[in-house]
Amino acid sequence: MKLFDVYPLFDLNFVKAKGCLLWNDKGEKYLDLYGGHAVISIGHSHPQYIKAISTQLENIGFYSNSVKIPIQEEVAELLGEISGYDNYNLFMCNSGAEANENALKLASFHTNKKKTICFTKAFHGRTAAAVAATDNKKIIAPLNETDNFIFLPFNDEKALEVTFQKNEIAAVIIEGIQGVGGVQIPNPNFLQKIRTLCDMYEAVFICDEIQSGYGRTGKFFAHQHANIQADIITVAKGMGNGFPVGGVLITPKINAKHGLLGTTFGGNYLACAASKAVLEVMKDENLIQNANVLGEYLYNQLKDEPAVKEIRYQGLMFGIELKFPCVDFRNQLLKEHHILTGNASCPNTLRILPALNVTKPELDTFIGAFKKIAQSDLVAL
Ligand SMILES: Cc1ncc(COP(=O)(O)O)c(C=O)c1O
Repeated sequence: MKLFDVYPLFDLNFVKAKGCLLWNDKGEKYLDLYGGHAVISIGHSHPQYIKAISTQLENIGFYSNSVKIPIQEEVAELLGEISGYDNYNLFMCNSGAEANENALKLASFHTNKKKTICFTKAFHGRTAAAVAATDNKKIIAPLNETDNFIFLPFNDEKALEVTFQKNEIAAVIIEGIQGVGGVQIPNPNFLQKIRTLCDMYEAVFICDEIQSGYGRTGKFFAHQHANIQADIITVAKGMGNGFPVGGVLITPKINAKHGLLGTTFGGNYLACAASKAVLEVMKDENLIQNANVLGEYLYNQLKDEPAVKEIRYQGLMFGIELKFPCVDFRNQLLKEHHILTGNASCPNTLRILPALNVTKPELDTFIGAFKKIAQSDLVAL
């Protein structure tokens, strides 16, 4: 059997990882400033994380959600404390798309309405409702086509208001910061307007923090920069530092009842051990603070570069928009400097999403390489 070929691949086979470093099968070292799509939050192979998962596996690896799994409560407790959402309830699942799927379904159950507002450039995943809320026609199959999702221009308060007036809205779903869309930051006023309108029209405010959450932006959740609370927050990626896990944080205003949501693997012992270790390390090592400090540092080092059109960033979530398409630039970073970065749906934007414990010398390596390539690319223009 061969693999179903759905990804364009770099010719790289990593066999070892530590912190922000990776080694391939030839023993060559790479600097990881992308964390495999923002997944690596506390660094590769963190010793506390390895110990937590290995110890858990030695004790018990799996049983289903038909029995008590106290480590789920420990994760919920810690997550509530660190995120400031201590009065919310947690439903655990296995991925980002699944978290959004459950969030959208729950909002519809709760309001008994169908229509959800979503935004241009949004990415919410590839399952049925999540992909229908995603602004990319190419990944929506005929089966997933529905008029239950209304796309509005990002940051357009007027369009939001008019749509609420004209439709029965169940929910609004928005990323804390759009990731795949190229690190597009919602205006605080826009998020506050969503909050007000959701309250006014009894709709559910869903904030997708799958990429922008877990301390990446210098607060636990990106939407907290706007001083608002969402009704449902979805998480995944950084939550497990590579162990597949997702979660839905749910306002106490939404009542649980048996059978409403469910999953076989969600909240399994190993995922919980990984998630608990991530939160403990984030707390012990002040990683949210590190994201703030090093984000400012990186911005200041690159903001005046002639090749840069704009830098959109918060903490360690960076979209560096160049004055030219970034595909060659990114390839040069990889091939000549062994630095992994990401792209975005806008072709000129380079995405930088390192582990939250990336160091200043590691960023300096990137800054040096960036300046060198930028100079030669500008000369070539
Ligand atoms: C904001 C956002 N939501 C949802 C998803 C989907 O997550 P997953 O790939 O774990 O299903 C992603 C993945 O990139 C994402 O960035």
